[in-house]
Amino acid sequence: MRDRERWNLKYKNGWRTTLNVTLLKFYTLAKKDRALDIACGSGDNAIFLAEKGFLTDAFDISDVAIEIAKENALKRGIKVNFLRSDAESFEFKPETYDLILNLYFLDRQILPKIESSLKEGGILIFETYNLKHLKVKPTFNRDFLLREGELKEIFKNLEVLYYDESTNITTFVAKKVSSVSCPPSQRR
Ligand SMILES: C[S@@+](CC[C@H](N)C(=O)[O-])C[C@H]1O[C@@H](n2cnc3c(N)ncnc32)[C@H](O)[C@@H]1O
Repeated sequence: MRDRERWNLKYKNGWRTTLNVTLLKFYTLAKKDRALDIACGSGDNAIFLAEKGFLTDAFDISDVAIEIAKENALKRGIKVNFLRSDAESFEFKPETYDLILNLYFLDRQILPKIESSLKEGGILIFETYNLKHLKVKPTFNRDFLLREGELKEIFKNLEVLYYDESTNITTFVAKKVSSVSCPPSQRR
């Protein structure tokens, strides 16, 4: 079954996104301007950010999830730009977001686009399962699990503000310091 159908079925069967604790702890680090929630599911985190004053874009591959998210936002009188999109087709515009969320979703192909889509000073909150999760759930597809230190290595140009991979979940919070990397010795 393709990803969209699989997730549509889960949402039809009652699966829902919940408000993420790491987001609650760290969203205040970001300038309150534009935010993006990648693979937003039924939208609680995106709606939370919009309630806090962020202009929020959010996408997910599942049209069922996006419909639920839109209904939830409407009920609460909150405006979020919810879009049904596959991560690889989403247009990550460069230097656009002050805050990007990537929670419990892993598509390695989009990681460079995430970095370039952050504004200077922008915050990335990334949290998902790592390889230790196989001890909890041996059938989990290991392609969707982070390796030890993987996010630090991929986002090596970002300034790490918080990092934890001591459990089966990796939490990575980082800031884009500068778009041009120029070592102090080469600055004039
Ligand atoms: C485990 S849920 C996480 C949802 C939400 N980020 C959260 O933390 O609760 C994974 C989400 O990824 C979405 N998804 C799966 N494959 C995707 C893809 N290729 N592009 C965009 N979203 C995708 C699913 O529809 C689902 O909503």
